Order: sequence, then structure tokens, then C-alpha cells
Amino acid sequence: MLVTTSTASQPALSAAELIAVALNARDRAYAPYSHYHVGAAVLTADGSVIVGCNVENAAYPSTICAERVAITAAIAQGQRDFVAIAVATENGGSPCGACRQVMAELGPNMTVYIADADGNYRTTSVRALLPDSFMPEHLV
Ligand code: THU
Repeated sequence: MLVTTSTASQPALSAAELIAVALNARDRAYAPYSHYHVGAAVLTADGSVIVGCNVENAAYPSTICAERVAITAAIAQGQRDFVAIAVATENGGSPCGACRQVMAELGPNMTVYIADADGNYRTTSVRALLPDSFMPEHLV
């Protein structure tokens, strides 16, 4: 889903609004094994919001997290400039290591909002979540 939320005269979404979008995406999680529903919403520099939810699989390692669904969908839609990501779970759980690594490469300057089901949240950054990460320049 792509929602254009900003124009020249209209500011981008607030933290609470981005979290509300992530909570809405959480309702669409496919998590019949863990029953842990996660929603994510990425805000881009042009004000677009792209959502994700976790999608599990009976072959458990084939599961993909909400954050990586949102970020990879955004890339597929031509977005590359990520401003913020909201992650919503039942209890304010923190993004997993694999998602942190993807955030570090594709959205290193993102603000990260980690919210619970009631919309309570804390604010952090990709750098704080994954300091000293492996980066593309390490490959050369
Ligand atoms: N999950 C996410 O969607 N994001 C995370 O950062 C942590 C874990 C999902 C994967 C799985 O479907 C469920 O939560 C339990 O691990």
C-alpha cells in the first residue's frame, strides 16, 4: 500500500500518525504460528508511507518480519530515501537483528518508533539499534 501524505504545504506525518498506520498494518499480520502480530510503516522523504506486516510460513525460516516487508516493498516502489519507521507489536518488542541490518543499509538515518498495541512508544535510531554495523563499503 502506498499512501501519499505530504504536499509542499503539508508536513509529513507525526510519530503518532505513523504509528497509527503501523498498528493498522499489524491487523493484517499472518502469524498463525507465533501469534505475535507485527506492523511496520516506513515514512519516505517525499511523504509516502509504505506498510508491512509479518508473514509467517509453516517452514518457519521462510517467515519475513514486518519491517523488512515494509522496507523491501518501499524499494520495489522506487523509494530510497527513508526518514522514519514505526514498528508496532503487542508489547513494544524491539526489531530483530536481521531487520536492524536491513535498516542499517537502506535507512541508516531513520528515526525508529517502537510502539505497543496501545500506541505507547519510544523513539530511537538505527545507529543506536545497530552500532558498528557491517556496511556496503566493507565489501570492497
Ligand atoms: N517479527 C517481526 O515481524 N519483526 C521483528 O523485528 C521481530 C519478529 C515477527 C517474526 C515472527 O513472525 C514473529 O514476529 C515472532 O518472532
